[in-house]
Amino acid sequence: MKEKLLKLKTEALNRLKECNDNAYIEKVRVQYLGKKGELTLILRSMGSLSEEERPEMGKMANEIRAIIEEKIKSIKEDISARENQKKVSSEILDITMPSRIPAIGRRHPLIQAKEELESVFMRMGYDVISGPEIETVSNNFDDLNAPYDHPSRDMSDTFYISDNLVLRTQTSPVQIRVMKEGKLPIRMVSAGRTFRFDDVDDTHSPMFHQMECLVVDKGVTLANLKDSIDQFVKELFGSDMKTRFRPHNFPFTEPSAEVDVSCPICMGKGCTSCHGTGWSMELLGCGMVHPNVLRKCGIDPEIYSGYAFGMGIDRVTMVKYGIPNIRLLFENDVRFLKQF
Ligand code: DAH
Repeated sequence: MKEKLLKLKTEALNRLKECNDNAYIEKVRVQYLGKKGELTLILRSMGSLSEEERPEMGKMANEIRAIIEEKIKSIKEDISARENQKKVSSEILDITMPSRIPAIGRRHPLIQAKEELESVFMRMGYDVISGPEIETVSNNFDDLNAPYDHPSRDMSDTFYISDNLVLRTQTSPVQIRVMKEGKLPIRMVSAGRTFRFDDVDDTHSPMFHQMECLVVDKGVTLANLKDSIDQFVKELFGSDMKTRFRPHNFPFTEPSAEVDVSCPICMGKGCTSCHGTGWSMELLGCGMVHPNVLRKCGIDPEIYSGYAFGMGIDRVTMVKYGIPNIRLLFENDVRFLKQF
């Protein structure tokens, strides 16, 4: 029996050496220590031993059981330690790793240009106000002194919503709204979207942006207009920027002018972008508020005078950032927008 027990011990320990998962250990345990296991059977057969042999063999069998149980316990601990290690290394957390920066959007260059313009004018003492994109025909045309046969009124130029309502073709109707409120003097700018039935090309889009400016007070002159424009252009584009006034015609101003600025690429020297002229495309229209417009809004042109201008914000943005094509502003391609 002693040999049997020793053999069993060696065998069981050898089998356990090969164990590397819990299911296999359990199999080995049942094989030796289970109810019908080999050691159990040996213990059961103790009855056939002599009185002297029995306690000795019993003691030995119990020791072997304890050794095997101890071995099983230690292997199980090894396995669980190994599994833990594996889990930990698969879930490793490197707190020194740079965090993932959330994709934050940014302001569209047009909005940036608009806000910059507004802040320049606020610093110069102007109020910033807003006006509706759907306008009455009278605010958009009639009260702005536009003759009934003015081409801009044509269905092919203007988006009519009804006989009396249009998508505003310019921000100038905000002038009418402010003047009709009757609070004088006026010093305001108003920026927003405007709409015209234009085909899309490099410089045109059916939806574009303008900023309107209106100043009405006693003794306002063309010199004030020129000075204000010159000041804000320098503020916006830099002090080297020059302005050029070309006579023009708008129904709501007299006299009227269009203003060009130095080409931002060659700073007035002449390059391919400005076709050698040194001047970039027209930036705004301006003039002294027409007496008819003042009168329509209940302001006496004998006492008050004013100047106004309307500027293409899309143009300003294009000049400021050297963007050659207006379409880029509306395609919303993140790769393009990211640059500003
Ligand atoms: N509303 C004109 C346009 O869209 C621009 C303009 C010209 C606005 C002269 C003005 C102005 O206020 O005085 O072409």
